Amino acid sequence: MKVRKAVIPVAGLGTRFLPATKAIPKEMLTIVDRPTIQYIVEEVVASGIDQIIFVTSEGKSAIENHFDYDFHLDAVLKEKNKKSLGKELDMISNLIDIVSVRQKKPLGLGHAIWTARHVVGNEPFMVLLGDDLVLGDTPCARQMLDMFDTLQDPIVAVQRVPRDQTFQYGIVEGEENEGGRTHKVKRLVEKPAPGTTDSDMAIIGRYILTPDVFDFLGTTTPGHGGEIQLTDALLALKNSRYMYAYEFEGTRYDAGDKLGYLKAILAYGLRHEKLGKDLAAHIKELAGEI
Ligand code: UTP
Repeated sequence: MKVRKAVIPVAGLGTRFLPATKAIPKEMLTIVDRPTIQYIVEEVVASGIDQIIFVTSEGKSAIENHFDYDFHLDAVLKEKNKKSLGKELDMISNLIDIVSVRQKKPLGLGHAIWTARHVVGNEPFMVLLGDDLVLGDTPCARQMLDMFDTLQDPIVAVQRVPRDQTFQYGIVEGEENEGGRTHKVKRLVEKPAPGTTDSDMAIIGRYILTPDVFDFLGTTTPGHGGEIQLTDALLALKNSRYMYAYEFEGTRYDAGDKLGYLKAILAYGLRHEKLGKDLAAHIKELAGEI
């Protein structure tokens, strides 16, 4: 089966980034010249997916507006003869078909995905977290879709993290599959206490899931932090079929975290066609002062 839909949960409170996120969704914070969420939507588009389902909440309408057509702004730009700006905004509003569903309470990532079940229907789908960026030559989603074409089972994207940081992540214990980058999942644990796992494979914000995950999400009780955890439902799903962990090619940035956000700005800025060279020169200058 082909993956045609991507769910992007953006209903979280963003408490790690307060006070910046009091009135602005963290997904709308700018990385160089566009909001974080636009990079994620562009990754989905570049990977060949047809439809995006945003899981939103109160106070997140700026995200939907960003991808909408703004009749008034378009008229003003035409009047002022700002054609290339108008074209760019037009491109953003025509990127892909977007549907929104509302998560009424921030009950956790698992609950956010469950909220999208009626729009996803009975087909495999991709999940991309709205604050997780992956920078690389081939979009991370595309890499995973290529794996799914062969495997036809759920896939979670993972990265190796220092062992003293595993308690901050969902951790996968697995066995190596052919090729080295793919692992058959043996066990999953959300934010394991230090010393309780030998694995350093942390789940990041990219998943390909099959619709049977909704059965498990619907019955998952609140876990770590009192939230309905996706990892708990994934563990139940893994017990009923094969599941794979995939070590993607690229670098992941947690743009919902202050330091992760700063690192993302530097990485994307350095790769920017027009700004990269000057930014690199400025970083060297600053480094000389430290
Ligand atoms: P985070 O763990 O980053 O949570 O969620 P958060 O609440 O947004 O941020 P902090 O930790 O308070 O700073 C990972 C992803 O899941 C979404 C978030 O929007 C983010 O994309 N999410 C989380 C929901 O959509 N609903 C929830 O109830 C929780």
